[in-house]
Amino acid sequence: MTQDSALLPAPEIAPNEGLRDGSNSRKVFIKTYGCQMNVYDSTRMSDALARDGYEPTEDMEEADLVLLNTCHIREKAAEKVYSALGRLREMKKKKAASGREMMIGVTGCVAQAEGEEILRRAPAVDVVIGPQTYHRLPEALRRAKDGHRVVDTEYALEDKFEHLPLAEAKKIRARGVTSFLTVQEGCDKFCTFCVVPYTRGSEVSRPVSQILEEAQKLVDGGVREITLLGQNVNAWHGAGPNGEEWSLGDLLYRLAEIPGLARLRYTTSHPRDMDDRLIEAHRDLRALMPYLHLPVQSGSDRILKAMNRRHTAAEYMTLMERIRAARPDIALSGDFIVGFPGETDEDFEATLRLVGEVRYAQAFSFKYSTRPGTPGAEMKDQVPEEIKAERLERLQALLLRQTQEFNESCVGKTIDLLLEKPGRLPGQIIGRSPWLQSVNVDAKASQIGDIINVRITGTGTNSLFAEFAEAEV
Ligand code: 5AD
Ligand code: SF4
Repeated sequence: MTQDSALLPAPEIAPNEGLRDGSNSRKVFIKTYGCQMNVYDSTRMSDALARDGYEPTEDMEEADLVLLNTCHIREKAAEKVYSALGRLREMKKKKAASGREMMIGVTGCVAQAEGEEILRRAPAVDVVIGPQTYHRLPEALRRAKDGHRVVDTEYALEDKFEHLPLAEAKKIRARGVTSFLTVQEGCDKFCTFCVVPYTRGSEVSRPVSQILEEAQKLVDGGVREITLLGQNVNAWHGAGPNGEEWSLGDLLYRLAEIPGLARLRYTTSHPRDMDDRLIEAHRDLRALMPYLHLPVQSGSDRILKAMNRRHTAAEYMTLMERIRAARPDIALSGDFIVGFPGETDEDFEATLRLVGEVRYAQAFSFKYSTRPGTPGAEMKDQVPEEIKAERLERLQALLLRQTQEFNESCVGKTIDLLLEKPGRLPGQIIGRSPWLQSVNVDAKASQIGDIINVRITGTGTNSLFAEFAEAEV
């Protein structure tokens, strides 16, 4: 599920819009690492900064402010940030020599985890701000402008959801027809490999009224598909309109009533929080897309226990069967870690067997990466790098075959396609299938946002091809 999304689409902003003092506008470049929640947060930061006169740019050279919105999930992700900061230091010096100031901020999970340490290791950094304190970013930047180096990572639980401003419809429209919406943040599960409980804190659910307000704003701005986000999104719970306790399933039923909101998704879930109501929602709601990302991490009960996953492989399989029974066309997706401390060949074989039984449409797999401060880091029997690499290669070959098989099974089918954005070739539009595949089809740009009937004609490396189909699905 991790992605290294290059950047925010630049929203269309009229010159000087949002400037308080009418001076020349400043430019901000935001580089987003990690998960979809970081992508969402980058958008929200961009919105907040627009109010202070910062226009987004995709050219780092012209930026007055560079923000690295970082990920700490694996060692490689965190190291990438430090090498980027090394390069930025040079750029900052060069700019300073020609009389231009460039501020550098580190946000996201590395900021939360490392705090002050970043100032020590990266002398060019002006501001370090964690995921729960973004609403104080403009203030931190003002203090930095006065020559202070600012670290702001202390928070109260409600902070984040209380204070972020929502974007205007015009901006939303410029970003496209699909959107993320964070409904939950943090994690109380404490899987022994994972930094998330330390970087994103404990589980907090956003209140129903805020979620509905934001969803309505997105729809008013032309959004047709919303993906609800949370590190443990299916742990979301809240009070319904009459004070009754709602789970994520109830929230989805309510969101599905919003006129114009054609599609709903949610990610990422934990098997322990897949309750009956959520499975019913998959059965009942046409707007809820038939795609579920449900990480299992390993197929070995011994390793699942050491990971503190609090479920067995058989329980996961039973859950998958129940979900498939509720929504037979559902595409299943998962995350896997190979080479967790103590993982033997037999444990790994159990993972391959589980994958063989589930038949994933899509999956993400990683070598175990030691994260300081987590229980896994202290465990004996760390697995040598070569073995991890070998296991990952075998697992990925199997998962890739399954994805290809799933994609090939779609050829000849007539499906609903949400037209999303222009494709690479003129006249081509990229759409999203119900199963989250990218599909290329010849269509007009004016049709973006429409859901059309297409017939899948073939598969490419990362996408499918389709042609218009006569009505009926
Ligand atoms: N090492 C390797 N992969 C990890 N993940 C989380 N922590 C680690 C780690 N320490 C993977 C899990 C998770 C996904 C987001 O990243 O598979 O589901
Ligand atoms: Fe990375 Fe996890 Fe933070 Fe997302 S929440 S940015 S995956 S560490």
